[in-house]
Amino acid sequence: MSKLTESKEWKALQAHQKDIARIPVRKLFEDDPQRFQRFSCRFNDILFDYSKNHIDQTTIDLLVQLADANGLREQTLAMYRGEPINNTENRSVLHIALRNRSNRPIKLNGKDVMHEVNLQLSKMQHFSDKVRSGEWVGYSGKKITNVVNIGIGGSDLGPKMVRHALKPYTRPDIRCHFVSNMDPTDIMNTISGLNPETTLFLVASKSFTTPETLTNAETAKEWLLKTAQDRRAVCKHFVAMSTNYDAVKQFGIDPENMFEFWDWVGGRYSLWSAVGLSIAVGLGMYRFEELLQGAYEVDEHFRDTPFEQNIPALMGLLGIWNNNFFHSHGHAVMPYDQNLDIFPRFLQQLDMESNGKYVDRDGNPVDYATGPIIWGEAGTNGQHAFFQLLHQGTQLAPCDFMVAAVNHNEVHSRHEKLLANFLAQPEAMMRGKNREQVIEELHASGLKNPSETLIQSKIFPGNRPNSMFIYDKLTAKTLGSLIAFYEHKVFTQGIIWNINSFDQMGVELGKQLANAILPELSSDNVNNQHDSSTQSLINEIVDRRNTLM
Ligand code: F6P
Repeated sequence: MSKLTESKEWKALQAHQKDIARIPVRKLFEDDPQRFQRFSCRFNDILFDYSKNHIDQTTIDLLVQLADANGLREQTLAMYRGEPINNTENRSVLHIALRNRSNRPIKLNGKDVMHEVNLQLSKMQHFSDKVRSGEWVGYSGKKITNVVNIGIGGSDLGPKMVRHALKPYTRPDIRCHFVSNMDPTDIMNTISGLNPETTLFLVASKSFTTPETLTNAETAKEWLLKTAQDRRAVCKHFVAMSTNYDAVKQFGIDPENMFEFWDWVGGRYSLWSAVGLSIAVGLGMYRFEELLQGAYEVDEHFRDTPFEQNIPALMGLLGIWNNNFFHSHGHAVMPYDQNLDIFPRFLQQLDMESNGKYVDRDGNPVDYATGPIIWGEAGTNGQHAFFQLLHQGTQLAPCDFMVAAVNHNEVHSRHEKLLANFLAQPEAMMRGKNREQVIEELHASGLKNPSETLIQSKIFPGNRPNSMFIYDKLTAKTLGSLIAFYEHKVFTQGIIWNINSFDQMGVELGKQLANAILPELSSDNVNNQHDSSTQSLINEIVDRRNTLM
């Protein structure tokens, strides 16, 4: 047994779960008229309501004791101080420095990192202003009309999600595209409609060794040079955001056009760094700074607020309650906000790459569940797809719902219809529908003798936990705060589960095997190290390609 599951705090939660599981959440609401006030918090324009989780005050008290006993506060301070909490890679984790709007010094090996952070921010300001004003021109003197971000994982999902979420603030005359996939169709679909003379490529890669990104960047370079016919054009059409100066230079990008960040910025936390250049170009640097401000204020809140009112800490603790004590499967994120439709995908990387670990910080296998499977869908679309399982399935999956009080597109009363759905689904999940209600409804509809099968199929068990966010309107600042809530939620859970949330060793094996297989697809180079399935599939693909191409 691990120290965690043996701890008195863990055991107290297990015992408490048995008691509270017997009381329907509906009843907890009936018994406590103050339940909403008790289990909700406000942060700027954001309201976080977690009262529909299967909790009472004892649950929160015990979860806070669990956080205290596992050093959540001390570890938070250690992260903020720049200690190398990424222990397998011996690295600091300092995305909070990227949005440290107070400019308070953050020292790493005796050097204040804020100096370099501010230098890159002003370089981003300068560059994005030049592109937006038309001062930056392509090789033939024309201004830039299309920006293509080439990157994958954190070098794609973060900026793509933000650009998409803040679409109402973008300029229509500079269109932004994102290419990530190794599938050549991704880049070909993107560039086929573009003019090389007016297209700017932003190549985002922390390592600058990621095959998808380098392959796509090479294709883009060939495409440009086919028209430009002059290698000097590259410096007008390619910039890089990376930590790897040599590799950027070797690729042929002018180091003058390189925006730096550092090994203490994890890929999935990098949108706040130069990786966010496409955001600054599309929205203007002042909006990028609003995004940073929203995250910065959450960083302060997370560091200083008691856990009982600390939104990211509560999100993390509730996740642990549902995951480890109610044995839920997965976690759904449902933005009732079309512009946030990429948000669940962004959170998949943030959460699953961080906390999808089976060994603890000392390398011992854990005996408790760690990160859940994250998925989600914007608006009411999910209701017509997978909500059936959420309401009546045998697997418990907690959900986060989020909505703006005011839509960027207030068309007649359409937003009210969306809001009604946003409010109804969590209520249905929590409340459910019992046998008496079903029979009454069937009678009212004229069905006097409904079959038992029909009655049973219409019963909703209820007690499906969910949390809700409401904000005024999706602005850059609000979005910055929402993202930071989830970042610190993931951190909270990683600390309690005693795992390293900041490496991603699980992505390595597949990469290694792909490197070994690649030569076998284009030659008779048989490796014989594969299992019979993989070997037969290699043969099958080679045969088919030889016949078809
Ligand atoms: O392979 C996973 C990963 O390393 C992610 O963590 C990262 O965001 C992505 O690949 C891209 O890496 P890079 O920015 O170095 O190209």
